[in-house]
Amino acid sequence: MKFFVDTADVAEIRDLADAGLLDGVTTNPSLIAKSGRAFKEVIAEICKIVEGPVSAEVTALDFAGMIREGNDLRKIAKNVTVKVPLTIDGLKACKALRAEGAMVNVTLCFSANQALLAAKAGASFISPFVGRLDDIHLEGMELISEIRQIYDNYGFDTEILVASVRTANHIKQAALIGADVVTAPPAVLKGLAKHPLTDKGIESFLADWKKTGQSIL
Ligand code: G3P
Repeated sequence: MKFFVDTADVAEIRDLADAGLLDGVTTNPSLIAKSGRAFKEVIAEICKIVEGPVSAEVTALDFAGMIREGNDLRKIAKNVTVKVPLTIDGLKACKALRAEGAMVNVTLCFSANQALLAAKAGASFISPFVGRLDDIHLEGMELISEIRQIYDNYGFDTEILVASVRTANHIKQAALIGADVVTAPPAVLKGLAKHPLTDKGIESFLADWKKTGQSIL
């Protein structure tokens, strides 16, 4: 399973890339606003750090506007993935941009039928938002299972990019289901390395090591 980080914070991206944990990056207009930086400038910087797909979202809602914005974003770097919303115009833009060779991430997916439409439009990635479904007391991970089954039934090669990930459990469940990618905030990705028994083990090994009076260097 691939790991993408869901942030526009370049320092965090660099940190995770240095740990070999990053296969790509996703951003959205809210994350760009949070960064306080110019959209295209921050995407260009991210694309230099990470070789994999970097999602940059269009803000136009009509087909022609999405195509114009998508083509403009693609000029930033080869690994820019154009992110479009799951609407009829978004699906049209997905089909057209894919025909021109662009990578497209169809976002704001909340149902299996929406995911089916994105696959039929040739999306490179579908982004189902599990956390926001959990927020309204639905089962976000159930949607991932349904999409996995549907895509496997028909051999669609659209990658399932689990988004709106809030917990380590979301990531474990996504891996068990066989999702292709998860995108998560930096803290959630880093949190995967944490275990109280790991910390306790380090502490007791170091205490015993001190007793030997030795040093490695
Ligand atoms: O980037 C899309 C998605 O991951 C947003 O997550 O936490 O705002 O629901 P969240």
